[in-house]
Amino acid sequence: MKLDVVLGLQWGDEGKGKIVDVLANNYPVVARFQGGPNAGHSLHFDGKSFVLRSVPSGIFRKDAKNIVGNGVVLDPITFKGECENIAEKTGIPVTRRIVIAKKAHLILPTHRLLDAANEAAMGKGKIGSTLKGIGPTYTDKIGRYGLRVGDILAADFAERYAKLQNRHITLLNQMGFECDPHAEDAAFMEAVEYLKQFELVDCEYYINDILKTQEVLAEGAQGSMLDVDYGSYPFVTSSSTACAGACIGLGVNPHHIGHVYGIFKAYCTRVGSGPFPTELFDETGEEIRRIGHEFGAVTGRPRRCGWLDLVALKYAVMISGVTDLIMMKSDCLDTFETIKVCTSYIVDGQPSDQWPFDTFANIEPVYTEFKGWHTDLTHCRTEDELPQEFRDYIAFMEQYLGVPIKIISVGPDREATIMR
Ligand code: IMO
Ligand code: MG
Repeated sequence: MKLDVVLGLQWGDEGKGKIVDVLANNYPVVARFQGGPNAGHSLHFDGKSFVLRSVPSGIFRKDAKNIVGNGVVLDPITFKGECENIAEKTGIPVTRRIVIAKKAHLILPTHRLLDAANEAAMGKGKIGSTLKGIGPTYTDKIGRYGLRVGDILAADFAERYAKLQNRHITLLNQMGFECDPHAEDAAFMEAVEYLKQFELVDCEYYINDILKTQEVLAEGAQGSMLDVDYGSYPFVTSSSTACAGACIGLGVNPHHIGHVYGIFKAYCTRVGSGPFPTELFDETGEEIRRIGHEFGAVTGRPRRCGWLDLVALKYAVMISGVTDLIMMKSDCLDTFETIKVCTSYIVDGQPSDQWPFDTFANIEPVYTEFKGWHTDLTHCRTEDELPQEFRDYIAFMEQYLGVPIKIISVGPDREATIMR
């Protein structure tokens, strides 16, 4: 059976939570394969709202099983808080609906402190990380120092924790970063005990067994332009956010990949530092931020806003082999007189239709303009109800990107979704 993958194609915050929740109805299993609590996946249904950080977005579907995969970095303290909140507000038996990969790496409290220390040391050149310890945890994974979820079952786990923590304390001291590295020791150990209530699995065996009879939906976090290899390095996250990351992060071979759903917003946003060619610094940017409520779900930071960038989007489609596009927040452009999309760049004075290697290059966007549709899309539920100007705009994008737009979201709620 197939592993279908949902990916963000921009700089994160494309609306992955809503789409996974909508699609989860068709999949018995939903799996997160990379990233950690830097993600903030927002879901709205039945008048309730949730922001998920490490819990897969299939959690609210009664019969779906949710896997926290090998490629994820898990913060036991945040995860416990998140699960307890869901259980308290909904009565969902979270410990039975989620299984956790033993090979997922653990975020220690001192990984978070190192994240803060690194950012402080970089001053103006900082990444603008979410400070959740993501970079330092993946650093330890690749450096072969890390601790994994399965290690919590070892008799000497406390000693191994202390050993890694001491390493971190040495680094923190070298950096002159003032903090109490032991402040969360007790909370960490308590959260580790909580983790033991979940089924801890060899994810690669577990998921391949499921794939013998059932389809699985893989839920990506962050977005293609934050991919550690193909994003705007060094202003990226520390994991593989592209489709191939799902194979590595779950232990599934590439032959299993079915649909690759690529999600993008009708405009662009970015939090943190780094290149953003279509960024708007004027009233239009403010307007997009206001209408789209573009403030971070994890950190509350105002998001940088700008027009849709088709050059970057086409690059993301190529890297991941996207088969189905999903367009979010179309309704947020309802009131604009003119809608712009970037169709090529001028990079350091030269015309180009490629995302440049040089993160510090001067990128000027070249726009194609469309007439606004001046229609409230939020009430549309079928393709026939969509205004002609909007259809022209969609047709142009499909032509440019060479992939059909299969789902159009016209509002945050589950119901505000048009399937094509
Ligand atoms: P979701 O899954 C948007 C950004 C941070 C920062 C950079 C590195 O909700 O789309 P990190 O904490 O990962 O080391 O930060 O990546 N970033 C995100 N931006 N949405 C996210 O997740 C993000 N996760 C990380 O702002 O610029
Ligand atoms: Mg987010």
